[in-house]
Amino acid sequence: MGRAAATTTATANAKNKNKKLVFGFIVGGFLGFALFADLLWASNSSAAAAAYRSISLPRSPSLTFSFPPPTDTIKDTEIGKKQKNGEKRVLSATFADLPGPNLTWEKMSPAPVPRLDGAAIQINNLLYVFAGYGTIDYVHSHVDVYNFTDNSWGGRFDMPKEMAHSHLGMVTDGRYIYVVTGQYGPQCRGPTARTFVLDTETKQWSDLPPLPVPRYAPATQLWRGRLHVMGGSKENRHTPGLEHWSIAVKDGKALEQAWLTEIPIPRGGPHRACVVVDDRLYVIGGQEGDFMAKPGSPIFKCSRRNEVVYGDVYLLDDDMKWKVLPPMPKPDSHIEFAWQIVNNSIIIVGGTTEKHPETKKMTLVGEVFQFQLDTLKWSVVGKLPYRVKTTLVGFWNGWLYFTSGQRDKGPDDPAPRKVIGEMWRTKLHL
Ligand SMILES: *[C@@H]1O[C@H](CO)[C@@H](O)[C@H](O)[C@H]1NC(C)=O
Ligand SMILES: *[C@@H]1O[C@H](CO)[C@@H](O)[C@H](O)[C@H]1NC(C)=O
Ligand SMILES: *[C@@H]1O[C@H](CO)[C@@H](O)[C@H](O)[C@H]1NC(C)=O
Repeated sequence: MGRAAATTTATANAKNKNKKLVFGFIVGGFLGFALFADLLWASNSSAAAAAYRSISLPRSPSLTFSFPPPTDTIKDTEIGKKQKNGEKRVLSATFADLPGPNLTWEKMSPAPVPRLDGAAIQINNLLYVFAGYGTIDYVHSHVDVYNFTDNSWGGRFDMPKEMAHSHLGMVTDGRYIYVVTGQYGPQCRGPTARTFVLDTETKQWSDLPPLPVPRYAPATQLWRGRLHVMGGSKENRHTPGLEHWSIAVKDGKALEQAWLTEIPIPRGGPHRACVVVDDRLYVIGGQEGDFMAKPGSPIFKCSRRNEVVYGDVYLLDDDMKWKVLPPMPKPDSHIEFAWQIVNNSIIIVGGTTEKHPETKKMTLVGEVFQFQLDTLKWSVVGKLPYRVKTTLVGFWNGWLYFTSGQRDKGPDDPAPRKVIGEMWRTKLHL
């Protein structure tokens, strides 16, 4: 399929005419939240339930700690006033926001479609943006491409019919894009283990051996000649998986028939950033638990379940042992394609943090974080134009870009609302 050169007029002020796409299930889910009672958790063995809740890590013989285990790091930076009658502290809805410098954001041409829980891979000056929900009842089956050189969208092409539409694991070697497992279809449908490779030069797709079992949003990276896939949610979309597999790959082909079992990840669950820099593999943030299909629902209607968000950082290095690094400034999830490596640091854009302790509403993240890889220090390097989760992030010529995801209801309400296709950029000065 040819690349249409001028399909989009890239005026910086182009108005985003996306329809209001309200994920009613999320809003509706809040109503039932107090009642969610977590039947699933209750039905788990108490040992398994304890493992989810415990901050301590599984007792793996080869697990080492170079830092104290992470703890919850939310800071009450904006604590509401005391109630009239004095005693009880009231947390404002925006209590989880962290201070940071204001950045100047420029609104670029919006993506052809809004998307949530899609995927993105940057290769040189192109950002390939895959799949995703358009609404909770509709998923995309195509790729859009953003050209950082002329700041325009174009070059749409189709995905294989059997490829997952959200919660994908995805990584590139600079030409081939490896696409692993994910959710197949809208709402909270089941996952597929099918795995594909896209040759971005020829736009040809091919198959890889399917993952041994399907996962939702597993951490995925190429490391030392192998495609690594770990964590994510298990087949019910909620239960965290600890399993870790790898397969040798080269130039878009598997060099082995089957996936090899590797050392399990200390904490399972979906929506984490997984980054290789300097021959080291980092796994950052994420959550345990996720929405699940309502039992018996013919449309696999999503219903909210308990989620715990983490700011944990794990490192896999030469010893093939997990090490624990300093956690993020606050727990952060839905960041699997929300990162870039800039000047020996990892930049992370937006996400979701722990639910509000009183209202139990889902809380989005409005900060840009930096993790300096020499000092292992985290900082907030700027504020976003709004809080937003599941951003798809690129970096080109000193500009940090983000597009897509789901934004907040407004400055005073960090709960999720509209699914967006907007594209923004800011000049980064680290
Ligand atoms: C950043 O921008 C916000 C909104 O415009 C404003 O309220 C705040 O004072 C600004 N902060 C700084 C440090 O300039
Ligand atoms: C990206 O834009 C530049 C400048 O217009 C153009 O030369 C280049 O061919 C474009 N790349 C693709 C893959 O379309
Ligand atoms: C990265 O470092 C180089 C060299 O110090 C500097 O010129 C550049 O501005 C830095 N990039 C960012 C985004 O800060």
